Amino acid sequence: MFLVLFFICLQWTPCLFQPTTRTYDFKVQLKNVTKLCNSTTIVTVNGMFPGPTIYAQEGDTIIVKVTNQVAYNITLHWHGVKQMLSCWADGPRFITQCPIQTGQSYTYKFILTGQRGTLWWHAHIEWLRATVNGAMIIYPPTGVPYPFVFPAEEHVLVLGEWWGSNVATLEKSANASGGGPPLSDAYLINGHPGPTHNCSGQDVWTMPVVKGKTYLMRVINAALNIEHFFGVAKHKMTVVAVDAEYTKPYTVDNIIIAPGQTCDILLEAHRGPSRDYYIGISPYMSAKVPVNKKKSYSVLRYHRNSSSLSSSPPVIKAKLPRLNDSAAVLNKMAFMKSLNSQLYPANVPQKVDRNLYFAIELNQEACQKGQTCKAPNNTRFQASINNITFQVPKISLLQAYFNNIKGVYTTDFPDNPPNPFNYTGNSLQNLQSQFGTKVSVLKYNESVQIILQGTNLTSAENHPIHLHGHNFYVVGYGTGNYPGPSNFNLVDPPSRNTIGVPANGWVAIRFIADNPGVWYLHCHLEIHLTWGLSMAFLTLNGNGVNQTLPPPPPGYPKC
Ligand code: C2O
Repeated sequence: MFLVLFFICLQWTPCLFQPTTRTYDFKVQLKNVTKLCNSTTIVTVNGMFPGPTIYAQEGDTIIVKVTNQVAYNITLHWHGVKQMLSCWADGPRFITQCPIQTGQSYTYKFILTGQRGTLWWHAHIEWLRATVNGAMIIYPPTGVPYPFVFPAEEHVLVLGEWWGSNVATLEKSANASGGGPPLSDAYLINGHPGPTHNCSGQDVWTMPVVKGKTYLMRVINAALNIEHFFGVAKHKMTVVAVDAEYTKPYTVDNIIIAPGQTCDILLEAHRGPSRDYYIGISPYMSAKVPVNKKKSYSVLRYHRNSSSLSSSPPVIKAKLPRLNDSAAVLNKMAFMKSLNSQLYPANVPQKVDRNLYFAIELNQEACQKGQTCKAPNNTRFQASINNITFQVPKISLLQAYFNNIKGVYTTDFPDNPPNPFNYTGNSLQNLQSQFGTKVSVLKYNESVQIILQGTNLTSAENHPIHLHGHNFYVVGYGTGNYPGPSNFNLVDPPSRNTIGVPANGWVAIRFIADNPGVWYLHCHLEIHLTWGLSMAFLTLNGNGVNQTLPPPPPGYPKC
């Protein structure tokens, strides 16, 4: 009902609703599900998988009471929400909060400012986000239309990754082994593997369409460890927004979407009911590591009013790039531009106050006595930024900063790689990293540029790097070592919260440090986060009004 009203408002009337407060009750609880012939107990929110969708309008206040009814510690993160002056609600474990312990609850409260489109939420502690995740949809304020055709209907598509066993146990054994992550059993669309797996004939998500209408697909990659090509057989897709920012519309056969990213797509249902069309996801992995290669499908099904048509018409498969098609990924990056209209200008920082150069490394640590070392040459996998492998502290960085607690972190995260080398060559330098809990301190309102430099250490791999609490402009990218700032797009580059750093390549991002607090930056491939591919920024308060981080909210979890 609410949604219907809301659409009518969006389309025709200047309805005079003010921003509202939307309250949600999230109970973290176990749920037994049967998938691929196997019954598994998973951690969910409110027994739903994927979890409940949060619907809101730009400007709304969101209040989510999270109650932990499972035996695991939990935190939730509102991925992509700017959390202006509400860093306490951001959610990454031991970065902005201590976990919500069994039987406890914590109420997250934040305002959705200056963003519209699709975001999502997920557990931000160990691997629980595999099953604890859901969509967050932010509609424009009442009376403000989309900058694209109003769709007949919209659908959320949450891409996931499925293991038919307990992910917490899997994580423990991966950690103990020192080697790679366990292969998943299937990729999922809205919790369904689609018809092409064992025992999954009925476990299919279907998107009903009517010929001649246009649909909005809100695609979210919630998979733990895999990027995906996504496409619909015999249908083109027009991208209109990514990571809750409008783009200049561009039309393609398929997209690449990394864990953490969202993509809003218009699909014109221009075919007809004599066929079904597969909506396909196909994994992208640039490194030579074992992954589950099996595609998954949903079905795009046209409404039919003639009874002469069979109930399950022949199906057309989606053509998607192959597993390691890094050229296709680079090609897709070129299409993406900010809308940069009068209403939605791209405020790209033209000058840079702080220049950072971050080398992203997959490392191999020497085997210590008593350890199992399943990585190559009897080592253990670790990962690092500028050769620092992030060590998770015992209390949150934000709390330590706010209360001036010493000994939790140091402020010497390096601006540049400590030992520069040929990052994308065959160098074996820096194969081992150093452990540390280091932050990089940013002055309020500083304009920051980071060159995220991929490396060839262990294996050249595309890393989806996510920055909490900000969108950033992706002003440049390329393969090889960063050559310097020629050919930057400072006019209409895309604004994102997660960007895939090309395999053995680089991206340049810019943002303004306009939000006091502690902001996590990490690879959104969960196994790399586990291995320490993260760091945090500490943005200091400004001197003006509304430039100071307020104290923690009531009920802030204790360690
Ligand atoms: Cu979506 Cu730090 O994560």
